[in-house]
Amino acid sequence: MARIERHFVCQACGAVTSRWVGRCEACSGWNTIVEEAPAREAAPKGLGTKPGRRIEFVPLDGPGEPLVRLETGIAEFDRVFGGGLIPGSAALVAGDPGIGKSTLLLQAAAGLAAKGLPTAYVSGEEGIEQIRLRAARLGASGAPVALAAATSLRDILTGLEGLDPAPCVVIVDSIQTLFLDSLDSAPGTVAQVRAAAHELIRFAKRSGAALLIVGHVTKDGAIAGPKVLEHMVDTVIYFEGERGHQFRIVRAIKNRFGPTDEIGVFEMTGGGLKEVSNPSALFLPADRSPVSGTAIFAGIEGTRPLLIEIQALVVSAPPGSPRRTVVGWDSGRLAMVLAVLEARAGLAFGGYDVFLNVAGGLRIEEPAADLAVAAALVSARLETPLDISAVIFGEIGLSGEVRPVAQAAARLKEAAKLGFERALAPRDAAAAGGGLVVETVARVEALVERLGSGAPKARRAAGPMRKAVERHG
Ligand code: TYD
Ligand code: MG
Repeated sequence: MARIERHFVCQACGAVTSRWVGRCEACSGWNTIVEEAPAREAAPKGLGTKPGRRIEFVPLDGPGEPLVRLETGIAEFDRVFGGGLIPGSAALVAGDPGIGKSTLLLQAAAGLAAKGLPTAYVSGEEGIEQIRLRAARLGASGAPVALAAATSLRDILTGLEGLDPAPCVVIVDSIQTLFLDSLDSAPGTVAQVRAAAHELIRFAKRSGAALLIVGHVTKDGAIAGPKVLEHMVDTVIYFEGERGHQFRIVRAIKNRFGPTDEIGVFEMTGGGLKEVSNPSALFLPADRSPVSGTAIFAGIEGTRPLLIEIQALVVSAPPGSPRRTVVGWDSGRLAMVLAVLEARAGLAFGGYDVFLNVAGGLRIEEPAADLAVAAALVSARLETPLDISAVIFGEIGLSGEVRPVAQAAARLKEAAKLGFERALAPRDAAAAGGGLVVETVARVEALVERLGSGAPKARRAAGPMRKAVERHG
């Protein structure tokens, strides 16, 4: 008797298995495996001997056409795309539910349409009235956007083909709500998401329209993770930050037509997402009083300097394995900085819980933040506030040395502009001055020494012990 083949698909990464498992072997996601109806087509056969059409090869160096960019007029949005949308390209706009994807794309649609670019907005999530209400709130009602509420991909494609004028930009919100009637799986499953995206991308390539696809990401991966889509599209834009924060950071994590290090910064207001065109001071504390565990990092995001508050909390932990909690930074990098501080500067964190937070919901990728993180940790551990008029940057190596980082001059200049007076930085930054007094830090030992000598000895010894007493008493 022929066994019935069963078909299980990881909803996060798309890996296929023949049995259910609790943890995906491909991406290590828990509870992401779901049974799906197997694809109907038969197993692929080889090509056989029948020849194909002879494709044409051309020289690499040919008369290229200049890239056209469709600008939404929302500068922070266009910046993330590298200057605007590219006709015939496909972009995925992903983020947690409620973060502002629909809002931003409706604003973008209105911007494009207002410039005379035919724009279509198809929503599978909201009804026409709902979208109109939102557009009214955003002050975008007047824009000539072609609006539709639909979920059947066949209908959507037929509708788009029939639009006159043909759309230059097509926005689909969201990919998880669409379905192909030729597939048995439910909307939102990997099979549906992948097939729907494939059809939409084919439409974009064929028609020359720029395609924007919205994708939800859930932390537990319950909905088909748009991870499978990342490989299919030209550009992937992620919303960073959390709903609790008023700021929204939009970042390109993949871009075939531009840089990936630019961020767009927005503020969520009653009238939609407002651009923050000069965000350098956004992630600084409003009240700059000296508090231990707080360091100001002079960072660079893309082409713009950004000053960011880094907060650390170090509290004595009960015996066992201490906690390491990080928000907005890489936890592996934190482990490295802690290990270097212990091995090279003799400052142990073994008996302490460590919490590290990047203020404002931003995520820092730069290694240049190492020294600022180390300073926040040492300051918290020794209960000694850092100089509030100083910014900090520098990369830390495993041997404890502080290494130079890119664009020191730009970092210092922005810090000076925002009223900082001093900088703790790698040796090479001294020449860049920029109006600040640059104190060079060559090794992590120097950092620990500097903060250690600034603290009254008795308090230093009593600090963690006092906490321990409170905890157990
Ligand atoms: P939305 O764009 O619907 O999120 P997504 O499409 O990513 O799921 O944003 C929803 C949130 O934004 C919602 O909690 C309300 C808030 N919001 C405002 O604060 N102001 C506004 O003008 C709009 C339209 C939404
Ligand atoms: Mg939405």
